[in-house]
Amino acid sequence: MIDQIKELIAEAEAFKAQTKEEVEAYRIKLLGQKGIVKQYFAEFKNVANDQKKEFGQVINTLKKTAEEKINTLKSELEQKEEVSQSNLDVSRPGEPISLGARHPISIVKNQIIDIFSRIGFNVSEGPEVEDDWHNFTALNLPEYHPARDMQDTFFIQTNPDILLRTHTSSVQVRYMENNKPPIRTISPGRVYRNEAISARSHCFFHQLEGLYIDKDVSFADLKQTLQYFTTELFGKSKIRLRPSYFPFTEPSAEIDVYWGLETETDYKITKGTGWLEIGGCGMVDPNVLKNCGIDAEDYSGFAFGVGIDRIAMLLYQIGDIRLLSENDVRFLEQFKSAL
Ligand code: DAH
Repeated sequence: MIDQIKELIAEAEAFKAQTKEEVEAYRIKLLGQKGIVKQYFAEFKNVANDQKKEFGQVINTLKKTAEEKINTLKSELEQKEEVSQSNLDVSRPGEPISLGARHPISIVKNQIIDIFSRIGFNVSEGPEVEDDWHNFTALNLPEYHPARDMQDTFFIQTNPDILLRTHTSSVQVRYMENNKPPIRTISPGRVYRNEAISARSHCFFHQLEGLYIDKDVSFADLKQTLQYFTTELFGKSKIRLRPSYFPFTEPSAEIDVYWGLETETDYKITKGTGWLEIGGCGMVDPNVLKNCGIDAEDYSGFAFGVGIDRIAMLLYQIGDIRLLSENDVRFLEQFKSAL
């Protein structure tokens, strides 16, 4: 009898089932009210005394082995069932992780940084909350200078010396104060002006300042650099420098790019002239060099400032500057495929 039970133990260990029903039938057969184990227990009283101990041990082992086997099979089958009920297909490829989109201002800013870094310009930054010296005075705009009115300024209420910078030219000053020539730097950043908000202007926007200081820098160098820039950015190499006035440069010029008149949009954005203004530039005024601790006898240089928002609007045909700061996902999502 003991050998029979040992066989049953081996059977229980090897037992396999495909369905819960098979497991249940096996359980009833072995462990049920009239099952094999019960029957063997009933035999116990008839077993010879010297065999009782071993008999008891094997029958208990059979019971335990069968119970354990039944439990593992049951939970395995239940798990399988769960998976098939939920229609989970573990071989399916995962959901694509949706990437965010860069803001058009960042895209254009990075493009311009890339263009200038190829000709040796580094990137510099300065604070948006600025003092009078860096935003105005050092740039040849002393107190009461009428040209201060060209840029409506937000002042910090309690201190007229502290303001929100009206242009990134303030970073020129900081850079020259802290670095010796040769200097080749561009300074992108946000600027603020107390202007009525409309489709064409906002009280904050973005500029990028360029500064080149070395020995014998000429106006021709300025023009070439700007021409390289417009060619790389817009694919347009025809530019014109229109005489203008900025207190910090002498001579000064407005930078116009020949956009062309091929499409109706070209007519619209250039007002029928084909020319588009993208910023200002000039040779750094010797007074500015002196204010920043650079010897104006030995060094000369050029500077320029362009509007990043304007360029983004041109490149992506955005008709309203307010879209750039409204954070409307329907607008922002459109830049997903851009850089
Ligand atoms: N700061 C000027 C502005 O905001 C732009 C500008 C003009 C910057 C001429 C320059 C420059 O560096 O040389 O309107």
